[in-house]
Amino acid sequence: MVGTAHVSVLLKEAVDAICLRPDGVYVDATFGRGGHSRELLSRLGPRARVIALDRDPSAAQAAEALGDARLTFSHRPFSQLPELLAEMGISDIDGLIADLGVSSPQLDEAQRGFSFRNDGPLDMRMDPTRGLSAAQWLAHVEANDLEEVLREYGEERHARAIAGAIVARREAATRGEEKPLERTSELASLVEQTLRRSRASREPGQHPATRTFQALRIYLNQELEELDTLLREVPRRLRPGGRMAVISFHSLEDRRVKQAFREASGRASLPRPAGMGRQQFGLLTQLETQKPSALLNVVARIRPSRDDIALNPRARSAVMRVAERRA
Ligand SMILES: C[S@@+](CC[C@H](N)C(=O)[O-])C[C@H]1O[C@@H](n2cnc3c(N)ncnc32)[C@H](O)[C@@H]1O
Repeated sequence: MVGTAHVSVLLKEAVDAICLRPDGVYVDATFGRGGHSRELLSRLGPRARVIALDRDPSAAQAAEALGDARLTFSHRPFSQLPELLAEMGISDIDGLIADLGVSSPQLDEAQRGFSFRNDGPLDMRMDPTRGLSAAQWLAHVEANDLEEVLREYGEERHARAIAGAIVARREAATRGEEKPLERTSELASLVEQTLRRSRASREPGQHPATRTFQALRIYLNQELEELDTLLREVPRRLRPGGRMAVISFHSLEDRRVKQAFREASGRASLPRPAGMGRQQFGLLTQLETQKPSALLNVVARIRPSRDDIALNPRARSAVMRVAERRA
């Protein structure tokens, strides 16, 4: 048994979007529990290859459990995809899927320290074999730096008050008046009390610590830097006609994907003339202003259906963008 179940988001849509050659070479940059890889393999022929990456060591067991000789798994961050392809002697690929963020098992297993609902050690590393845990980082970070992380990666309006409360708690712990912050529940209740004290309005349906946890997770795992590297490196490794699909779960990610695709497709950001419809303008900029050196064509932006969201609430905020390498 490899952890709890993970319901893959936009499973068929993602595989439909990238799987165009049955004997091609594909990359699953975020293997997780292998939902997308399994679907991909089920559509591919015997000579195809799927190269899967995940920085979470537990994904390796799920990959092994698939027992498919066409699949190669590597435990590393996807920013290292170029090195992996070079090691494997592969110069270009037919398609790539990146299903960003954390998996349900990572969130549900209290020991991983991602969850404010299930108490566990304050860790939050996707790869617990590397880097600092949240508790270790919070034990020495400067208040200003913490405030910036909460504001930038959590879009937290009360970043200053929360950063101040975390640092004050740490100082009280040094004096022996409080316990150091070591558990997810301790951080969650500290944030909750701080927001209550600042009379912050609650966002409906959201735990007060949601933004703090998101910010720490993104920062500690360098999620946006990882994504930027992927978006920069993949387009030139796609074969002409090859496609990449990126599923993101919050606007910080989606904005980057949108911008990177726009830039790689050489689309000029012209102002839309008054009176011209959005669709007409889109066609005009694509046809008339695409630079000859452009690498990609933007193919689609897909959101999960209402039924998908009912089955899997994690899909609620998902957006998939697909781009294709130009011939
Ligand atoms: C949403 S889950 C993917 C689920 C997978 N598509 C499935 O169907 O089972 C995201 C996975 O990506 C991994 N991940 C996130 N960022 C990563 C990165 N920069 N490099 C490698 N793996 C990463 C996480 O460890 C997690 O297992």
